[in-house]
Amino acid sequence: MQLTPFKLERYFARYEFNVKYLLCSSDCESLSVGDLLAFEPDAEEGLRRHWLGYTESTGAPSLRQEICRIYAGIQPEQVLVHSGAEEAIFLFMHAVLQPGDHVIVHWPCYQSLFEIARSIGCEVTYWEARLQNEWAPDLDELKHSLRPNTRAIIINTPHNPTGYLMPQADYRAVNALAQERGIILFSDEVYRELEYDPANQLPPACDINPGAVSLGVMSKAYGLAGLRIGWIATHNAPVYARMAALKDYTTICSSAPSEYLAELALRQRGQVAGRNLQIIQDNLSLLDAFFTNHADRFEWVRPKAGPIAFPLLSGEDIERFCHQLVTRLGVLLLPGTMYGHPGNHFRLGFARKNMPQALAQLEQYLNPSTKAGGTS
Ligand SMILES: Cc1ncc(COP(=O)(O)O)c(C=O)c1O
Repeated sequence: MQLTPFKLERYFARYEFNVKYLLCSSDCESLSVGDLLAFEPDAEEGLRRHWLGYTESTGAPSLRQEICRIYAGIQPEQVLVHSGAEEAIFLFMHAVLQPGDHVIVHWPCYQSLFEIARSIGCEVTYWEARLQNEWAPDLDELKHSLRPNTRAIIINTPHNPTGYLMPQADYRAVNALAQERGIILFSDEVYRELEYDPANQLPPACDINPGAVSLGVMSKAYGLAGLRIGWIATHNAPVYARMAALKDYTTICSSAPSEYLAELALRQRGQVAGRNLQIIQDNLSLLDAFFTNHADRFEWVRPKAGPIAFPLLSGEDIERFCHQLVTRLGVLLLPGTMYGHPGNHFRLGFARKNMPQALAQLEQYLNPSTKAGGTS
């Protein structure tokens, strides 16, 4: 297995904990342990009493029961808990793929969604999201990419980095296509529940496609990345069994206190995700004004879901721009080149409470005569 360095994670490792403003985070505003425990009167006492032995390898039964409530027809034995979404991606690919298999990946994307397949020796085709189509990947292109040895299709909607939310009809067509051809659909749904219009929320793939694997996590919509709890939900029993067997060689089981806190947060998920969606909506109205004022410098496709977008910068190299911004004003943006994307894009994150201050700094950088504090 030859894994190349994870560009985006290396970039974050360099800056994340020593800059003042993270204006490209893909997770939502987090909570303290105390904030989370305050949701329920007995929660603190429950945590004190919580046993610190190994937990069940598939995930604590009560946590899996709570996760099932996200889905329409999933039972606890169809949920496999992991240490973050990242472990689930790694195990899925190793459970399902062989050297020489063909994999189609919605792209640009979180690097592990294609890199692990490539490291196994698979042929990878990018199903490309393009700015000129407002980041919609083309269904005909997907059909034309299929090969006799296509083993998996990997999608991510709501999408990192563009904020694209697939329309219902397209999503159902992708699921139907995979099902007809006996191809496993791996559906990264880590930004689900952050749709700006709830009517646009897609059903989890595992609820409409018996072969599909849905990926969920505490990190993104719920803002609880430090718990390192993710999961897959699937009716595909052979894939589940192979992933569960591999987990004995990675983490065996998840952290017991994290499982306890994840279960608590999921019982309150309406409130936890709702608070984050409100932060996003408030920040988006500032971004609308910002991009209207700077239409000469940026092209911005307003996302339909999630905490991130992928604007295009004109007139200056994106890596240089991001470097100057972080070194002069301590504001971190993520150049699109970290996705291996050749365009002059950057990832913008807007689910943090201090986004208005970060945006004011960006405004000042663009227009030094502006007093920091205003965003127009
Ligand atoms: C689309 C997507 N999938 C998976 C992950 C991995 O999530 P985690 O860090 O919680 O393991 C990320 C993290 O940024 C992501 O954006």
